[in-house]
Amino acid sequence: MHEKIIILDFGSQTTQLIGRRVRELNVYCEILPYNKFPENDPNIIGVILSGSPFSVYDEKAFKTDLSKLIGKYPVLGICYGAQFMSYANGGKVEPAGSREYGRANLSKFDKENLLLKGLSENSQVWMSHGDTITEIPEGFEVIASTDKVKIAAYEIKGKNAWGVQFHPEVFHSTEGTKLLSNFVVGVCGAKQNWSAASFIETTVANLKETLGNDKVVLGLSGGVDSSVAAVLLNRAIGKNLTCIFVDHGLLRKNEFKNVMKDYEVLGLNVIGVDASEKFFSELAGVTEPERKRKIIGKGFIDVFDAEASKLKDVKWLAQGTIYPDCIESLSITGTVIKSHHNVGGLPEKMNLKLCEPLRLLFKDEVRKVGHELGMPEHLINRHPFPGPGLAVRILGDITREKVEILQNADDIFIQGLRDWGLYNEVWQAGVILLPVQSVGVMGDERTYERAVALRAVTSTDAMTADWAHLPYDFMAKVSNDIINKVKGVNRVCYDISSKPPATIEWE
Ligand code: XMP
Repeated sequence: MHEKIIILDFGSQTTQLIGRRVRELNVYCEILPYNKFPENDPNIIGVILSGSPFSVYDEKAFKTDLSKLIGKYPVLGICYGAQFMSYANGGKVEPAGSREYGRANLSKFDKENLLLKGLSENSQVWMSHGDTITEIPEGFEVIASTDKVKIAAYEIKGKNAWGVQFHPEVFHSTEGTKLLSNFVVGVCGAKQNWSAASFIETTVANLKETLGNDKVVLGLSGGVDSSVAAVLLNRAIGKNLTCIFVDHGLLRKNEFKNVMKDYEVLGLNVIGVDASEKFFSELAGVTEPERKRKIIGKGFIDVFDAEASKLKDVKWLAQGTIYPDCIESLSITGTVIKSHHNVGGLPEKMNLKLCEPLRLLFKDEVRKVGHELGMPEHLINRHPFPGPGLAVRILGDITREKVEILQNADDIFIQGLRDWGLYNEVWQAGVILLPVQSVGVMGDERTYERAVALRAVTSTDAMTADWAHLPYDFMAKVSNDIINKVKGVNRVCYDISSKPPATIEWE
């Protein structure tokens, strides 16, 4: 097993980013809830405590037993993590006069300190806190200040522990990665040998050991995550893996056929099931977005279950769950905005053990693993696509006719992005069929037809997204092609909303 850094999550919005930064240093890390520190894991080489939406004084504030950490491992507390370490040892934390938010500069710092070595004069850091540390306990030493914040960073002398009031993990802390590297590599001694190749090697070995000669079933969606999970499992257990690809009739144009071919080339054992009839009849007349999602989620489970139960002696259900899915489901203050049908449901119903070989990877890491496994680029770099498919891009009820219109418009848009070299510039793109008709004129004829909206966003993790600033010439061409070639559409709009407050999908 790999050496690892543990990041204890106290609920900050940037906890995931800390994980990303550590992984970018080619060091393996795991994000765990603040109260789930795995005491007996010999592979831990250091611990980072995240920020939190709470103040240390809040009744609900998350607390953990620091005596199990400080002095036993190198520790770095970030924002709340730093406040909590100081407060728990008798220091003082008080509300900052005004909320300290935004850029600041380390005007004074100890250039010889292990944590701050190599940072430049006036290094820019990002502050975001309502409380501030006003007094540190005995044995703590201030190692950095800004104009406004006297105790911007401290060290607990002789304990290999530090606290920083600012957020080194965010982009605006320009030398934040250097600081994290000082901790992770300099102090904790990480070897920086975490890579896609090493991940594949350890994971395949682990899968072989855990699964032995057991049979495994996996649901393929055509997306990157499930495809990479399948190829990885195939490498570990070969024929003992059976994949099921359910076509609910709401995929992109020709998607089912094309992806089945890709899977064949990859040597996967795949059962393709055309269940579109079932889905169309169950969805007929349904307009409410959550209801559509629930019907598709349940339908998917039924079809999958029926197919899987035809297989003999299956013991495991494999899924392409990735890290953000897990972290989101841990989220301490989470609200359900949309139910993602592919997360829950199946394992309980099927009474199978769950195997999730990618559960500790971020999306870009999954892509690197796919690349290393020799999968074709178009499969690895494919945009994310929602499990309920085009159903959440057709506002209102769903019919085969509407799906076909949308597939044709979508195909023009996506192919256009590829032809213009824009496909990999955006995080994802698609077309939405609107429930409105408008008047137009074609030749000498009056038309009264449908409107579609194009949606293309840039993002790094789909948690936040901005609308993509696509070239006007490109949009003109796509709009023209759609209106000329897709019967039933006479108007094209472009969605210029960011997430938040909008979401990527319309439903
Ligand atoms: P939203 O619309 O919430 O979407 O901004 C965020 C990302 O999730 C995708 N999405 C889904 N993915 N099952 C999935 O696997 C789903 O039910 C689902 N709904 C939305 C969406 O395409 C975007 O990438």
